[in-house]
Amino acid sequence: MAELKAKYMGIPLETPIVVAACSISNMIDRIKLAEEAGAGALVIRSLFEEQIQFDAQNMEDALSVGSESFAEAITYYPSIEHGGADEHLMWIEKTRAEVRMPLIASLNAVSLGGWTKYARQLEATGVNGLELNVYAVAADPRRNAADIETELYEIVKAVKAEVSIPLAVKLSPFYTSVANVASELDRIGVPALVLFNRFLQPDIDPTTESLVTEMVLSQPEEMKLPLRWTGLLYGRVDADLAITTGVHSGPDVAKAILAGATAVQVASALIEYGIAYISTMLRQLEGWMDERGYQNLAEFRGKLSHKEVLDPFGFERSQYVDLLRKQK
Ligand SMILES: Cc1cc2nc3c(=O)[nH]c(=O)nc-3n(C[C@H](O)[C@H](O)[C@H](O)COP(=O)(O)O)c2cc1C
Repeated sequence: MAELKAKYMGIPLETPIVVAACSISNMIDRIKLAEEAGAGALVIRSLFEEQIQFDAQNMEDALSVGSESFAEAITYYPSIEHGGADEHLMWIEKTRAEVRMPLIASLNAVSLGGWTKYARQLEATGVNGLELNVYAVAADPRRNAADIETELYEIVKAVKAEVSIPLAVKLSPFYTSVANVASELDRIGVPALVLFNRFLQPDIDPTTESLVTEMVLSQPEEMKLPLRWTGLLYGRVDADLAITTGVHSGPDVAKAILAGATAVQVASALIEYGIAYISTMLRQLEGWMDERGYQNLAEFRGKLSHKEVLDPFGFERSQYVDLLRKQK
């Protein structure tokens, strides 16, 4: 029988399937269901910088300031409009006391500020790790790439200095050089990178001539972006790599590990098919491994990464040129 254990950001996991930060962590019963179904760990929904900076009375003002991440947070969780940081911390403490699997707290931020001290408070709840999501749309034309990246590194260093638990950074795919940003974070000593933030793109309703921000779950097709970057980064950074976005089945988990991932983070598929679907995904992964005689995940991790594959150009431009030329 295939062995599914993994070690992600220094945390031993029973299986490589991590529940991504999402609404599943809103209820203890759902978290317990994920544990029973075989989740290796769970990321608790984010504590937002705006939640920390503004107390409950000032939430309205926070909304009118209107950072992209917080507008999206409200789409995810209408209730956080009235919930502050302290309630969030209490919720994590309660969850920690009731489940055994590793729990990872999440901080969602847009800028450097006093809120970073909350990283220490999150650690004090007993979580095993912390995920930092620097989720901002770089819309200010006066700020260049170097400014934006430098701020990211400063935020990461400030948060890292607050905690002794391992830190993962959930990255945007929109840096000019994702590989350079990943290796800088590696140099700073970040033990895990999560690829990628899934930006919810606003739509326009032409009938009402208004903006529409709605929660649309991912499609398996969307996994190709983090899959490529995992393949490109594997073996070039020391940090563990986790794929989030579009992981919808056991074979998808196998693909992630073949590219070089240590773990996957899943939200949409569990919301769509139910939390118990984790056990189906694990059975599919085991079946896939048994068919090929793989005894553990390390035996095939990175087998199809850019570094290991015979045709590494498949990850780069030449494949694209080839494909376009073949089109009739
Ligand atoms: C309902 C919902 C709530 C989410 N909340 C958060 C959050 O609080 N913090 C965060 O970093 N990502 C959040 N996400 C993003 C997920 O963690 C995940 O990265 C993304 O959905 C892509 O994975 P998927 O394709 O499996 O859905 C949320 C996603 C969903 C669907």
